[in-house]
Amino acid sequence: NAYEFILTSTPRPGVGQITLNRPKALNALSTPLMKELNSALSAFEASPEIGAVVLTGSERAFAAGADIKEMKDLTFPEAYGKDFIKLWSDITNISKPIVAAVNGHALGGGCELAMMADILYCGPKANFGQPEIKLGIIPGAGGSQRLTRAVGKSKAMEIVLTGKNFSGAEAEQWGLASKVFETPEACVEGALDTAETIAGYGRLAVKAAKEVVNQAYETSLHEGVKYERRIFHALFATQDQKIGMTAFANKQKPEWKNE
Ligand code: HXC
Repeated sequence: NAYEFILTSTPRPGVGQITLNRPKALNALSTPLMKELNSALSAFEASPEIGAVVLTGSERAFAAGADIKEMKDLTFPEAYGKDFIKLWSDITNISKPIVAAVNGHALGGGCELAMMADILYCGPKANFGQPEIKLGIIPGAGGSQRLTRAVGKSKAMEIVLTGKNFSGAEAEQWGLASKVFETPEACVEGALDTAETIAGYGRLAVKAAKEVVNQAYETSLHEGVKYERRIFHALFATQDQKIGMTAFANKQKPEWKNE
């Protein structure tokens, strides 16, 4: 393992796993950790073997937030001048699907990181929240925007203004997460299963599917539907479309070419 604060592996065919591994600080997301995370994600993004990524932490913490000790003495000129937190956005430029398996604390930047994933799964003790208000700040890595889009204004306001945490069951009920598992291990396995399923499909269709769903957050319904149709049309220029539909017609399993 080439990294200090994360572990990487390929536990299933086509699946890259990144495990946040800074146990003494409950996976607090320091700048060095985030640089490693970006570097591991870029490596999986570049690898033709990998079709999807699972991002997880420990049983105790997915991540307890940005590193408060690192931020404590930060000044405005430093924060603004160096565009503190900007590198977090790199995660959202990854085109391969990311499945987050959240066990334990996912607070502040940890909650924001989980919300950047494409699919969010929770274990029984997932504990989400945006406690920044208690530190005299506000969410800074998209929390106010992604949470509001996912759960609506009243709940988002409640969470951001009170700093009160919410459970995995609530996250699932509100549509922020798509599943809650009975054990932490089942949560990670479930994320790996889903990632493996995705990695078993043609890479181009998967990339297009992620792109069009994300477009729903950026545009009007009319424009979004048009955008989807254009990408849909474009896939008829791929081998995989011919392979997939021919295999169906011949009752065979498709052998994707990713072209
Ligand atoms: C730095 C952290 C940390 C954090 C925990 N630790 N969270 N260090 N940054 N965000 C460290 C503790 O200081 C402690 O180190 C060790 O991890 C274990 O934590 P404990 O507090 O002893 O554990 P516990 O009593 O189980 O409490 C767990 C906890 C609590 C409820 C999660 O640690 C906590 O409230 N953490 C802060 C959560 C938070 O406010 N997150 C938002 C951060 S702001 P030592 O050395 O004492 O053993 C943020 C801004 C985002 O994320 C904006 C842009 C990204």
